Parts: sequence; structure tokens; C-alpha cells
Amino acid sequence: MTEAILLVGGKGTRLRPLTVHTPKPMVPAAGVPFLTHQLARARAAGVDHVVLATSYLAEIFEPYFGDGSSLGLHLEYVTEEEPLGTGGAIRNVAPLLRSAPGEPVLIFNGDILTGLDIQALVTTHQSAGADVSLHLTRVADPRAFGLVPTDDSGRVTAFLEKPQTPEEIVTDQINAGAYVFNRSVIDTIPAGRPVSVERETFPGLLASGAHLQGMVDSTYWLDLGTPQAFVRGSADLVLGRASSPAVAGRCGDCLVLDGADVAEDAKLTGGTSVGREAVVGAGATLDGSLVHAGAVIEPGAVIQDSLIGAGARIGARTVLEGVVVGDGAVIGADNELRSGVRVWCDAVIPDGAVRFSSDQ
Ligand code: GDD
Ligand code: MG
Repeated sequence: MTEAILLVGGKGTRLRPLTVHTPKPMVPAAGVPFLTHQLARARAAGVDHVVLATSYLAEIFEPYFGDGSSLGLHLEYVTEEEPLGTGGAIRNVAPLLRSAPGEPVLIFNGDILTGLDIQALVTTHQSAGADVSLHLTRVADPRAFGLVPTDDSGRVTAFLEKPQTPEEIVTDQINAGAYVFNRSVIDTIPAGRPVSVERETFPGLLASGAHLQGMVDSTYWLDLGTPQAFVRGSADLVLGRASSPAVAGRCGDCLVLDGADVAEDAKLTGGTSVGREAVVGAGATLDGSLVHAGAVIEPGAVIQDSLIGAGARIGARTVLEGVVVGDGAVIGADNELRSGVRVWCDAVIPDGAVRFSSDQ
């Protein structure tokens, strides 16, 4: 059995307004808080002890997951008074780890949806005799990530977080946010102050000659840090393109949770999920979208690739495409919102107030 640290203390700034009341890992995807998918996948890979490193809205996690026994895990929580950064968060939970100095500890960013073979990463780590191993994936535009070039044997040669200049873009391999650290390496991270594992720990370890091993894996991978990615990830879970033991129902075109009320002629496609006590009216069309608990979609609304927050209301015939609607917001009838618009929690948009397409 192995133990894992989950980094779940970020502010989720890019996901606002979804993260105004809810920390990013607790925003539901495919019917359950996103973190559930990561915990269930870790459990399936043989992890039995997980420490959650929390900071922003820390109090939301424990009431939901408790001691973890419903997931077959032993879960513990550590809260940073002030955010300690990714490396500081890892160091801060060290007193709760049970592994011996030479044993591997898994560490996961809390916003990654991936089909990574977790056990294969541990095996790679052990057979390479590495100090730290990293899951790497290839992306078309690596600028928003940590770049991780490797040599022929997969050994990491540099770590360049969020490259600023074209010269720094030396590879399309990025840090995919899953690591294996030897326990003893965690203990070398300075305690009691903010540390970035990406900007300080990894470059420092490389400079000191430590062995960092990369494992490139081209399985499903998505960072759910933006609204569009979050909606995409949830839809892919519902469709079964991304696999998780925790999807709250059978995979297929849509997922309707117990207690939701969906009109018979409403059309739900593309991995749309509808949360508890939500209502979808007659003739409404929802494609690739995520409707949280208690939201109301009035008749004839057309919603694509959008996220509707808890208790929000979307008026009749309103068209949404690539939009995020915060919890409790009300969008009146006959509006048209597109292209990344984010409507704040509890905002009210009157009937017929916003258009996008040109009038004929
Ligand atoms: N406990 C704690 N404390 N957790 C934190 C803190 C903190 O101060 N800051 C960030 N986190 C958590 C976030 O909640 C998230 O789960 C994880 O650390 C990574 O933070 P993000 O804010 O999502 O970082 P990113 O997406 O910009 O970049 C990271 O992930 C990329 C892959 O998605 C980096 O690790 C990149 O190198 C990597 O490529
Ligand atoms: Mg992220």
C-alpha cells in the first residue's frame, strides 16, 4: 500500500465565479465533487492513506469526505493558515506521513483529470532508482505549464515553470501534476515558509544532482483550472472518455442525478449532467454542459458547453454557449450569451437584455 498527498489549497482564481463558495476540487463534475474522482482513482491504484493539503475554503472538505472510509481510504486534513505554495504544502503535511525515508509517496495536483496508470509511475520511479519521478504529458501549447525536458533515458534535465520567452520553450513535454517523491526528499523542503515545488524545489534538486525521472504518458489528461476545461472534463467523465470509478451513474450521453426533474422532450447530449433537484423545462436543449443542484432551465433554452451554478435560473429561449453562470444568478428569458462570458453569483440579467448575434 502507498500513501498520497493531494494539493487542494489553491484559490481557483481562473474558475471564478465557480470557486466563490466552493474550492476548485469540491466543484461537482459528473455528479460528485471533482476530488472524489481523484480519490477513487488513487484508491483503485492501491493507495490507502491520503493527506489533503488544504488552505482556501479549507472547511468545506472534511464535512463531505470525513475520515474517507466511504471511499475505502484513511483521509487526513492539514490546513495552512497562510497558503504555503505547492512545495510548502507538501512539507507541511510531512508529520502525518507514515512512509519510511526510502519509501515512495505520491503527490497529486488537485485539479487534474487523467487516465494515468499510477502504479506504472511508482514502478518507473523504483526501477530508475529516482529521488523524484514526474508524470509528463505532451500539449500543443505548453506556456501555461511547467516544461520538463528529459534525456534519452527519461531523466529530467531542466524544469521551466510557465516559460516567459520563446527561447524557454524547449519541449512540448509538461509537468502533468502527479509525482512520486521519496519520503526523505519531502523532509528536505524548508518548513514554515512558502515554497513553490515547481519554481524552487525541482530546479534546486536538479542543481544539486538529484535524480528526477520523467514518465511520458499519452493517456487522457486535462487540467480543470479554467471553466471551459472544467465543463469539458465533466462531460468526458459522463461520456466515458475519461474513466473514473466515481461517476454517479452509468456512462452515456447524459447523467441525470436523483431528484432532478427533466421534461420528457428536453434534449440532453454530449455528456451533459444535471444535478439533484435541478429542473429542465420542455424543449430545452443541453449539449456538453453541467447543471448544478437546484438550478432551473426554463423551456426552450439552448445551452452548449456551459456551466450553470447551484440554484441559478436560465430563462425561456435563452441561448448560452461557452458560458459560466454563478450560483444563484438569474438570467431572464430571450438572452444570448456566448464566448466565455462569466456571470457572477446572484447577478440578475433581465429578460431580453443581452444579445450577441447581429439582428436581422
Ligand atoms: N495546499 C496548497 N497550498 N495547495 C496549493 C497552493 C497552496 O498554497 N497553491 C496551489 N495549490 C494546489 C492547487 O489547489 C492545485 O491543486 C495545485 O496545487 C496546482 O496549482 P494550480 O494553481 O492549479 O497550478 P497550475 O495549474 O497553474 O500549474 C501546475 O499544474 C500544471 C499541470 O496542470 C504546475 O504544477 C505546473 O508545473 C503543471 O504543468
Ligand atoms: Mg492547475
